[in-house]
Amino acid sequence: MNIRAPFFASTPLHSNLTTRSCNAVGADNFAIETHRVSYSINNEKGKTTSIIKDCSLNIPSGQLWMLLGPNGCGKSTLLKILAGLLSPTDGFVYVRRPKSYVFQNPDHQVVMPTVEADVAFGLGRLNLTNDEIKLRVAKALTAVGMYDYLQRPVQTLSGGQKQRVAIAGALVEECKVLLLDELTTFLDKTDQIGVIKAVKNTLSSSEDVTALWVTHRLEELEYADGAVYMEDGRVVMHGEPSVIMDSIEAKKASYTDNINS
Ligand SMILES: Nc1ncnc2c1ncn2[C@@H]1O[C@H](COP(=O)(O)OP(=O)(O)O)[C@@H](O)[C@H]1O
Ligand SMILES: [Mg+2]
Repeated sequence: MNIRAPFFASTPLHSNLTTRSCNAVGADNFAIETHRVSYSINNEKGKTTSIIKDCSLNIPSGQLWMLLGPNGCGKSTLLKILAGLLSPTDGFVYVRRPKSYVFQNPDHQVVMPTVEADVAFGLGRLNLTNDEIKLRVAKALTAVGMYDYLQRPVQTLSGGQKQRVAIAGALVEECKVLLLDELTTFLDKTDQIGVIKAVKNTLSSSEDVTALWVTHRLEELEYADGAVYMEDGRVVMHGEPSVIMDSIEAKKASYTDNINS
């Protein structure tokens, strides 16, 4: 699989659909919608484990939303369902297309030796002239603040710069939804902020690109237009980042109080 290839299709991804019974889904102003999505796996002994439970969410078009929650709560699994890499066991999923999934480890998505060649990689299958390719690559690299690095060998870049190049690789194919899984995990503070700002800038310079950013770093919430908080496979909060931030801080404080008492 081309790990950065957007998934082109004109129809939503459906699995055990419940579309007829939920009129709210499929509205034009949401780029991502799920309704009561569940995902279970069977182990080799035939035991079923439920990983995603009844998750419903709506992400408005053109916004940067964050998906938060403790380690192992199901964030990556839900993101993979949205990307179409996993099929839900039940429920409805709609994600505007083309969509692109960017992995956590920047070294897992570099495919070509130079920045320019790497970003242009996915365009090979489209019937574009050289000038069209150059224009698209320049536009995508400018959006993530990496145009000056056009001719640089990818291996000389920092982790955050590689992540920004990977995002440009998605944008160059005119993807409408970016699904970003913990891109800042391996990055230092400067790189971390650089990647978030690149995503913010991308969204403000194009009208209809939407991003869902998975993170466990609470401080990143300040860049979000909205947030979804998960626990144990369920969506437990959905909405205003400051409200979710306060609620998580309160949970942490109460947990610390309990340990210390
Ligand atoms: N293929 C799998 N087989 C068994 N367990 C899995 C598999 N994928 C995910 N899990 C389990 O599902 C839970 C959610 O995982 P994940 O989505 O990676 O969480 P997060 O990204 O929030 O850390 C974890 O307990 C994980 O161990
Ligand atoms: Mg994860």
